[in-house]
Amino acid sequence: MTAELGTRILPASPAATAEAARLLAVGGLVAFPTETVYGLGTDAGNGEAVARLYAAKGRPAFNPLIAHVSDVAAARQIAVLDAAAEMLAQDFWPGPLTLVLPKRPQAGLSDLATAGLDTVGVRVPSHPVARELLAAVDKPVVAPSANRSGHVSPTTAQHVLSDLRGRIDLIIDGGVANVGVESTIVSCLGEPTLLRPGGVPRETIERVLGCKLADPAQPVIAEADGAPLAPGMLASHYAPKAQLRLDVEEPRAGEALLAFGPIAQDTSPAATILNLSPRGDLVEAAANLFSHLRTLDASGAKAIAVMRIPREGLGEAINDRLARAAAPRP
Ligand code: TXA
Ligand code: MG
Repeated sequence: MTAELGTRILPASPAATAEAARLLAVGGLVAFPTETVYGLGTDAGNGEAVARLYAAKGRPAFNPLIAHVSDVAAARQIAVLDAAAEMLAQDFWPGPLTLVLPKRPQAGLSDLATAGLDTVGVRVPSHPVARELLAAVDKPVVAPSANRSGHVSPTTAQHVLSDLRGRIDLIIDGGVANVGVESTIVSCLGEPTLLRPGGVPRETIERVLGCKLADPAQPVIAEADGAPLAPGMLASHYAPKAQLRLDVEEPRAGEALLAFGPIAQDTSPAATILNLSPRGDLVEAAANLFSHLRTLDASGAKAIAVMRIPREGLGEAINDRLARAAAPRP
């Protein structure tokens, strides 16, 4: 249901918030102001909506997204906060700080939202429009910056419109996003680590923690927005234990098969078969990608054969992730 009626833009008001919440509940794409930059929001639990969000941004790869929630209690429902995380949450939420935390398995987040990771980036924004919207939706909302891939992050509704007109359902115009840079990202998966500098200065965080923030040991993947490779624009990525074989026409006996499009199940030599999209739909395939990979990996097969997936539209991001998952690792 992406932007069938074109992209509407509404000045911030209780009616606009209600309309945005209604759209989010049915898998719509809604841009809204936060104190850092405008975000492009969708229901974090709806894999197909998250896939359409990537398509609207034109991202060539799937990066884990930040789940936006209305308060620390809502954060605790989707993630586990250790003592350091609780301290940072008390001091900086609501505000421009994102915490990367262990994800609760029952959190109801789609695998695509977290790009298949067991961790989740969580943030409680302070902008009044964002807060009202999150309270009205009462579910986590994933929201990358509301720009086309490779463009700069938007700080006004007009920036969003010029990038995403016709690709999203609604923009709530709440004036200028005044921080203007994205949230600071700190991972609390052990020693607190600065993944991305942003709206809250490092020193301010270190003062609250009473210790230095670590720097990431090992950059793994780049921010997919075409931005330069910089510390913190990086995230670990999901890597199955099984070896992946890509662009496979015929699976070998005993392999697990990750299929795409119509296939003859009963004549296949594959031990286990999951289909990303029997009807060959890339949005559906993207939504299923990480959960199907996980399930096939858990089946115990030594190798996962992956059928060819077209490289157009979301297929580019799907192939990017598959190539990373297939790459030999250290
Ligand atoms: O200020 C902001 O944070 C804005 C507004 C809209 O809230 N959002 C934003 O989202 O900047 P985005 O998608 O452009 O950047 C999210 C960053 C990415 O670099 C991603 O790799 C990282 O957060 N990230 C998200 N979840 C992660 C995780 N589980 N582990 C490591 N990095 C993660
Ligand atoms: Mg961005």
